[in-house]
Amino acid sequence: MKLWTGRFHKELDKTTNDFNSSISFDSRMAKEDIEGSIAHATMLGECGIIDKEESQKIIEGLEGILSDLSSGALQIDPSAEDIHTFVEGELTSRLGDAGKRLHTARSRNDQVALDVRLYLKKQCDLLYGQLSDLVKVLCKKAEEYSGAVMPGYTHLQRAQPITFGHHLLAYGEMFKRDLSRLADTKKRMDVCPLGSGALAGTTYPLNRLRTAELLGFSGVTHNSLDGVSDRDFCMELASDIAIAMVHLSRFSEEIILWCSWEFKFIELDDAFSTGSSIMPQKKNPDIAELVRGKTGRAIGDLTTLLTMMKGLPLAYNKDMQEDKEAIFDACDTLHMCLTAFIPMVDTMRVLPENMRKAAAGGFINATDCADYLVGKGLPFRDAYKVTGALVAYCIEHTYTLESLPLEIYRQHHELFSEDVYEAISLERCVNGRKVLGGPSPENVRTEAKRLLQETEKMEAAYSACAG
Ligand code: ARG
Repeated sequence: MKLWTGRFHKELDKTTNDFNSSISFDSRMAKEDIEGSIAHATMLGECGIIDKEESQKIIEGLEGILSDLSSGALQIDPSAEDIHTFVEGELTSRLGDAGKRLHTARSRNDQVALDVRLYLKKQCDLLYGQLSDLVKVLCKKAEEYSGAVMPGYTHLQRAQPITFGHHLLAYGEMFKRDLSRLADTKKRMDVCPLGSGALAGTTYPLNRLRTAELLGFSGVTHNSLDGVSDRDFCMELASDIAIAMVHLSRFSEEIILWCSWEFKFIELDDAFSTGSSIMPQKKNPDIAELVRGKTGRAIGDLTTLLTMMKGLPLAYNKDMQEDKEAIFDACDTLHMCLTAFIPMVDTMRVLPENMRKAAAGGFINATDCADYLVGKGLPFRDAYKVTGALVAYCIEHTYTLESLPLEIYRQHHELFSEDVYEAISLERCVNGRKVLGGPSPENVRTEAKRLLQETEKMEAAYSACAG
């Protein structure tokens, strides 16, 4: 059924219909479309815009459609123009004239803006729950490995000693920011556009606040042009998702490195790795690689939305139908990635001895050696130079700073004495980094607790204001 047959003399060309149709991807909003229509019909009845009995008939008809769709008794017609057309057509074929009254004081333009908001609010909740789970897993693991010394890197060169727990909490902080971005996005998304009509509102005496209340929105949009043509909430969510995916991708990149034989800092559980069809020894980190790879899609989805919107005059334009595939794909991608990623991280075997071994090479205690001299009164720049010369000496004569004889130290500077070995021990280097936000085991335990508590608080606040 077409909703706009009045001024046309011909049926729409079949291939054009397929091109124009959005049913293949917007049918996933069937439930939201029906919920929106039920609220609209309720309000129309309450305001006396349509008959009370007719409103009731419409509501029951819509409930019937919803339950038939979920039981499978009713199939979505793939030739329908979109989900809105399909539901209204089905309602009219069931109810006759009453069905035709549903669209009073409404346009598909405010209807689609509503459906997408309703659908994405639920997606925010789903992703919020998953991201909080991830933060919790990271807090647990960080606490467990708060004392596991590993090399910290800059330029992928061993730089200074840190702890594995500290490294995990760095990701914990990123995902916590992702949580707060999601919560923020949902807040701005949480306004009801129904009543904006096609673009210019309506002459019917609607109670917009009532419809918003029935649908659980915190408020309504305040400009009809903006109400139908705003897709900021899609762009914002896609941006949140792209950023979260970038975080997951960096983490994945590290997991891929860590489980290589070159690092061997971790081993992935067999349930979360794959083999090779030809090389019997292989155990591949496919999940982490796929997450890294799929990040491209999420970034692409954001780019699609920004580019699609950038040249559009007010108000609705059909270009905007393209919002759905992009934002749905972004949501699905993050959802799927987190579903696989969280248990993969939760079950990975951490190999602290190998981390410790890697930390013992590469002179990552050189800064601490310089700091030792500073402690003895030498200005840092001089201490830096002396230590640089020591490192060069060690490389040339295959020593580490730990194994270098005291007399050689003393040949480089007379301030060195026996206690230098204690000062440059890895444990001492890590334990000493107690500055707020530093990697000492003590700090990691405190920060893991704090992050967990803050995440739980954020979750509680999120569900308290969940619209
Ligand atoms: N399928 C359309 C979309 O997704 C619904 C809105 C159609 N409105 C219109 N005036 N053609 O954007």
